Amino acid sequence: MSAAVAFLFMTPDTLISAYRAAGQGQVFAFWDALDAAARAELAAQAAEIDLAEVERLNRALVFQAGGGGVDLADLEPAPCTRLPENGGRADEWAAARAAGEAALRAGRVAAFTVAGGQGTRLGYDGPKGTFRVTPLKGKSLFQVFAEKIRAAGLRYGRPLHWFIMTSHANHAQTEEFFAAHRYFGLDRGRVHFFRQGRMPAVGFDGKILLEGRGAIALSPDGHGGSLRALHRSGALDLMRAEGVDTISYFQVDNPLVRAVDPAFLGFHLLAGSEMSSKMVPKAYPEEKVGLFCRQRGRVAVVEYSDMPAARQRETNPDGSLRFAAGNIAIHVLSRDFARRLAAGGGEVALPFHRADKKIATVDAAGQLVKPGAANGVKFEMFVFDALPFAANPLVIETSRAEDFSPVKNAEGVDSPATARDDQLRQFGRWLRAAGAEVATDASDRPHAGIEISPLFGYDLDSFRSRWAQLPVKPVVVDGLYLE
Ligand code: UD1
Repeated sequence: MSAAVAFLFMTPDTLISAYRAAGQGQVFAFWDALDAAARAELAAQAAEIDLAEVERLNRALVFQAGGGGVDLADLEPAPCTRLPENGGRADEWAAARAAGEAALRAGRVAAFTVAGGQGTRLGYDGPKGTFRVTPLKGKSLFQVFAEKIRAAGLRYGRPLHWFIMTSHANHAQTEEFFAAHRYFGLDRGRVHFFRQGRMPAVGFDGKILLEGRGAIALSPDGHGGSLRALHRSGALDLMRAEGVDTISYFQVDNPLVRAVDPAFLGFHLLAGSEMSSKMVPKAYPEEKVGLFCRQRGRVAVVEYSDMPAARQRETNPDGSLRFAAGNIAIHVLSRDFARRLAAGGGEVALPFHRADKKIATVDAAGQLVKPGAANGVKFEMFVFDALPFAANPLVIETSRAEDFSPVKNAEGVDSPATARDDQLRQFGRWLRAAGAEVATDASDRPHAGIEISPLFGYDLDSFRSRWAQLPVKPVVVDGLYLE
């Protein structure tokens, strides 16, 4: 039994004693002044926390000078499987695609979206998946994914299970959104929501911070927490019962993502890999994407913020970027690997990262203080830190134009405007490839506002075959919507 689970069965008195013994008695500083409901709430939050884990993190990350620094020794670029147009073998891609399609037909694959982030940079108030992104219909990110998942289920004759990880802050709103939209036509029994875990913030002295007299400063434990949450929520058991052994993982912010990609799945399965990742070559040296590297024989992602600028700009003799393989946060994991990592323990556990933050916290008098500078530390896990533990990890190239255009910032790069334009370009490319005339500007963006529903076509192949069936081909004009 984990410490946190054990705490659930403790009376408040024993819980308080355990906190005092761990040097964290300040969490209950205002206990006597709280009413019964507030005490119950605080006790429940305190029971969620694994004090031994906090103690370990304090020693490893908070008290150490330069704690949490990333090991950048012996880094080399990770080996990657290239797209056929960039030197990859077309026969291997065809075999991979066939293997992935067979797995989809056999119902072995589930989709998994991590949607626990707060969308702070976007400045959007609401679960990020409810943000409207498509150029004509203004469909939400969740609707786009739902239609892709539904279309794949129809194409392969096996409806997919879809797991969505939320946070405490957005769980109820996310569920309500799906219910209000009738699960976008999906079988509601196959859409599963679960909350990710939380971690307490600590001051630089390692003391757990309060954000109210009766409230611990808790925040999501990072998308790496998804592995524990899959396990804890029973999702992995459900997958086993349903014959699902392969998890197609993607982030909530990317409307172009192929929610399930047969070739990617197939490479992973044929290699007996435990975790595989998609990469795109970086667009420019400072692009804010993690980098796939090899370090002492293991594949690892080094986050952009940890990679010194000089190394980001290193080039090969031919002038190309040396560390060029950008992480677009699309992975395939085997179910058993997820379980092994979720169980953790020993050497097989995701590390936590330290992030120094401004954390609003109560002072000794119980008044809320908003600091002007970082006053504490939050702890997060990253899912890509699982790669070094995986057998046969693969890094597979994909086309940025067909797979990656995230919505992260309100304006500028990776914004709603760039994602809308990239969707328009994709729709225009597919139409042209099928023989339609599409007028575009110099950046290849169609002049007309058009949209293709994933239910009509969710990749070039499915689009082409559906287009071929149309008895009369529509003219590409403003407002064209294909469904
Ligand atoms: C992330 C990756 C980066 C990658 C880029 C591609 C990290 C640390 N970095 O950067 O390597 O190149 O995406 O787009 O992830 N999320 C949760 N729970 C959490 C935190 C995040 O579910 O506790 C989800 C968010 O909803 C979002 C995703 O994880 O879908 C990404 O998180 P974010 O913090 O925005 O990462 P980026 O800095 O964009």
